[in-house]
Amino acid sequence: MELKKIGVVGCGLMGRGIAEVSAKTGYDVVVSEINKELLDKGMAAINQSLSRAVAKGKMTDVEKTTAMGKIKGTLDMKDFLDCDLVVEAAVENLELKKKIFADLDRVCKPGAILSTNTSCLSVIDMAAVTKRQDKVLGCHFFNPVPVMKLLELVRTISTGKETLDTASEWGKSLGKTVIVAPDRPGFIVNRILLPYMIEAIKMYECGVAKREEIDVGIQLGLNHPMGPLTLTDMVGLDTTLFILDAIFAETKDPTFTAPVLLRKMVAAGHYGRKSGKGFYDYK
Ligand SMILES: NC(=O)c1ccc[n+]([C@@H]2O[C@H](COP(=O)([O-])OP(=O)(O)OC[C@H]3O[C@@H](n4cnc5c(N)ncnc54)[C@H](O)[C@@H]3O)[C@@H](O)[C@H]2O)c1
Repeated sequence: MELKKIGVVGCGLMGRGIAEVSAKTGYDVVVSEINKELLDKGMAAINQSLSRAVAKGKMTDVEKTTAMGKIKGTLDMKDFLDCDLVVEAAVENLELKKKIFADLDRVCKPGAILSTNTSCLSVIDMAAVTKRQDKVLGCHFFNPVPVMKLLELVRTISTGKETLDTASEWGKSLGKTVIVAPDRPGFIVNRILLPYMIEAIKMYECGVAKREEIDVGIQLGLNHPMGPLTLTDMVGLDTTLFILDAIFAETKDPTFTAPVLLRKMVAAGHYGRKSGKGFYDYK
């Protein structure tokens, strides 16, 4: 199946990245938000990211203008009508995602693929509210989307082969390396990543080590691009907590118990980079 138009629900951290890479590689894009202020903020962030690419010599001014011209922002789900593939990138909450999938199923043309960028939630639970379970899968991108090379596709027990093949070709056309993961909590990458983040937060919480020591230790000792606390700030503490609670709820595995400090920081609005404060200060 040939894809021409991509829909993205949510123009937050991930949605704007998915919109950007899709437009840059020649797809028409519709991206939605819940209000004009958030939509304007997301579109401005895409514009800034493309400007950075121009400044670094990765694209020309003309290419930037062409890419921006391919992205249409909207507050109306009906604009997804003629999309060939939609990626849902709203916040990590299953009830909200199920509602969005039910709306998309009503609005989108028959044959359109519906996908979710969920970090860990059960994809089949979203597929089950639609009348096209074979056309539903997970398209799990990584943050920041323009930079990270991986796309983890999540195949449910109902995902059709053609759906998986089409999504895989799409991922490759965006320049991503594609892996296929089972529809199990955390899929492949987050199932390994989350216990690592928990351990770093607990060490910091208990005073075993300072935040800089933990981050520098991992960064230089294991040759990671950044340490685990910096990474948690980048992912978003709220998103990290959502993920942990969701994996724990489904597995009851104590490995995924959220540290108390993380819960308190989220309650205080310290979401990391996006709120200006997390384990580090970004103001
Ligand atoms: N942050 C990461 O590093 C990361 C990485 C991979 C996957 N994810 C997943 O991607 C999804 C989005 O995460 P994020 O970090 O971009 O969150 P975010 O909070 O930055 O963005 C989510 C956006 O969705 C919008 N939204 C909520 N309901 C909506 C609706 N009904 N219609 C349109 N927009 C709506 C919100 O207003 C918000 O701007 C989550 O499922 C998350 O688990 C996040």
